[in-house]
Order: sequence, then C-alpha cells, then structure tokens
Amino acid sequence: MSRLFSPWSLRKVVLRNRIVVSPMCQYMATEGVAGEWHRVHLGSRAVGGAGMVIVEASAVSPEGRISPGDLGLWNEEQEAALKPIAAFMRSQGAVPGIQIAHAGRKASTAAPFLGGKFLPPGAGGWQTVAPSAVPFAGYGVPAELDLVQMTRLREAFTHSAVRAASAGFEFLEIHMAHGYLLHSFLSPLSNRRTDSYGGPLSHRMRFPLEVVDSVRKVWPDDLPLGVRISTVDWVEGGWDLPSSIALSQELAARGVDLVDCSSGGIVPDAKIPLGPGYQTAFAERIRKESKIATLAVGMITDPVQAEHILVTGQADGVALAREMLRDPYWPIHAAARLGAEPPWPAPYSRAKG
Ligand SMILES: Cc1cc2nc3c(=O)[nH]c(=O)nc-3n(C[C@H](O)[C@H](O)[C@H](O)COP(=O)(O)O)c2cc1C
Repeated sequence: MSRLFSPWSLRKVVLRNRIVVSPMCQYMATEGVAGEWHRVHLGSRAVGGAGMVIVEASAVSPEGRISPGDLGLWNEEQEAALKPIAAFMRSQGAVPGIQIAHAGRKASTAAPFLGGKFLPPGAGGWQTVAPSAVPFAGYGVPAELDLVQMTRLREAFTHSAVRAASAGFEFLEIHMAHGYLLHSFLSPLSNRRTDSYGGPLSHRMRFPLEVVDSVRKVWPDDLPLGVRISTVDWVEGGWDLPSSIALSQELAARGVDLVDCSSGGIVPDAKIPLGPGYQTAFAERIRKESKIATLAVGMITDPVQAEHILVTGQADGVALAREMLRDPYWPIHAAARLGAEPPWPAPYSRAKG
C-alpha cells in the first residue's frame, strides 16, 4: 500500500492522494483575470491525477501583485473567471485550492520571462508597501504601512477569502512566505517597526496572525485553511526554525490545518543548500513540534522520494512545482512506479499500460 496514494482528509475535504500541485505564478492574467491559459494549465494538472491543485498566488489588491500579469481576487470579474476553473478541477477529482497573496516590497516587477526587473511607478509599476521602508535589494523603497492601511489590507485578505469560497475553492492557502508582505512582517531583516507590530517575535507575528484570524472567520468551517511559510531565511539573524515552530503553534491554535513548508526569499543572495528534499527536514520538525499537518515542498521529483518523505513521517503530503510543469501526468506515472492504481481520467483509459 502506497502512502502517497492513500486518501488524505482535511476537515470535510478528502484528497484522492497526497500529491499537491504547488502554486505557480503564470504571469498570464489580464487585470488579474484568469483566461484560457489558466484554464488549460490548471485543468491539465487536475486531469493528470493530483490530489489537489493550488492556483497560483492571487493578489488581494492591485498593489499586491508581483507583476501586472498576476492573478487577482479582489473583484467580481476575477472571481467569475476562476469559478469554472475550480469546477472543472473538482469534476476531474482534484481538490481545487487557491493561494491568496500580497507581494509587499517585492511587488511591481516585470514577469520573469520579460526580464523580471523592478518596475518603478510611471514605467508600468506602482508604489510598493511594506512594514518598514526597507527595500528588497534592487527594488524601489516601499512606503511604510500605517495602521489604517494595515486594517484595509487585513480586510482585503478577508474579502478574497470570501470570493475564493464563492468561486468554489475547497482549500485556501495564505501566502506568508518568499519575502512577500506577510513574511516581511515576520522577518527581523525586513520588519524594523518600533510599534507593537515590530521588535520581538510576538510583535512581528501580530499582523500575519490578525490576517489569519480574520480569514478563518469567513472561510467555511468545514473547509481546510493552509499557510505557506518560509521556514528559514537562510541568513544569520533572520527568521529561523524555532520561530517557525512557534508561529505554527499559533497557527494550529487559530484553526489552520496545514503548514506548507517552503523557505527563503527575504533577501536575494541567501546561500541556500539546494538539493533533493532540501526543505523536508523543516516540515518534519514543524509537524512534530507544532502538532500540525505539514506539506513538504522543494525539489521533490521522484515517486520513491515522495513516498519516503511520507512514510518517514516528515510530512502529510508533498507539493511539486517544476516537476509538474515537466510532466502534468506525474501522478499517473508515480502510481505505476509505486504499484498503486493510476488515477487515469476515464476518456484516457485506453492508454492504460
Ligand atoms: C513558475 C513558478 C511559479 C511559482 N509561483 C509561486 C506562487 O505563486 N506561490 C508560491 O508560494 N510559490 C511559487 N513558486 C514556488 C513553488 O511553489 C515551489 O515552492 C518551488 O518551485 C519549489 O518546488 P519545486 O522544486 O518542486 O519546483 C513558483 C515556482 C515556479 C517554478
């Protein structure tokens, strides 16, 4: 019996297996609205047999986009465009998930395939915001958020959560990783505030946790809520694993069901020891010490490797990003390798080996 292909229950939601398509920005939206690209890209991964497909970082406000091509979830039109995509993924047996995000001081850039450079206001970009006026290297200086703006942002996350539920998503992930807004409140490298939202760990966690509380109130009780964190900054004096364990305990106490364990992103030049499963040890520590389900991610490409992560109790599920771009049918191939029943869609059944 393969653990990777065992069902996974999160609140009332049951994933057919423990393979998750990690959120991946496509930079293909127009005014934040999903189009044919998203329909085909996400639909293919649902057809490929994943247990859950998480839609890319979807901004809670226009200034929260990484690039002008990011998806958004702040208006009716964006919600309406995502609805049939969520329904199609569900019809193919994949749990439709979505990540909501604000890019903070790392917003306002060109898409990576258009050079990825910071776009200043007036050159297609906009004024960025952050906990403190400390820029990400090579980017513009963000404006320090005041308390009124923070309240508005918390509400923006909350409104996007309501829209995600009405669009038919069954899993919601709050993006608190990769140097974007909520992570930049957590990390002492980017949060230099002197008010009650900066300084000691409890202060730095305050705004992200307020967002979680507010989102959990509107996100349906029977649906699971996840948070993606950067477990470590990979920089001396930055956010570290003990802080992630403390944060995850707070998240568990607030009704968060799953911590998606990524890392890095707060500075451009951190020395990250990239290699197969380089982040899974963090997922394991958080799972054990914070008593919360974890999702392992990062250079997971091989079915036996994925199975090993689960069997050894490092995580409850695995998220794959680039490997799912290389092979949308990875779950079907992985099942064959692990001796499980491959999740073939019915119209493809004549291709079964
Ligand atoms: C094209 C691309 C877009 C990405 N967009 C997002 C995103 O929207 N949200 C996020 O949390 N991570 C994003 N990531 C990071 C992935 O979700 C994943 O954590 C990372 O690529 C490591 O997993 P991998 O080694 O399986 O690719 C992106 C990665 C890629 C390659």
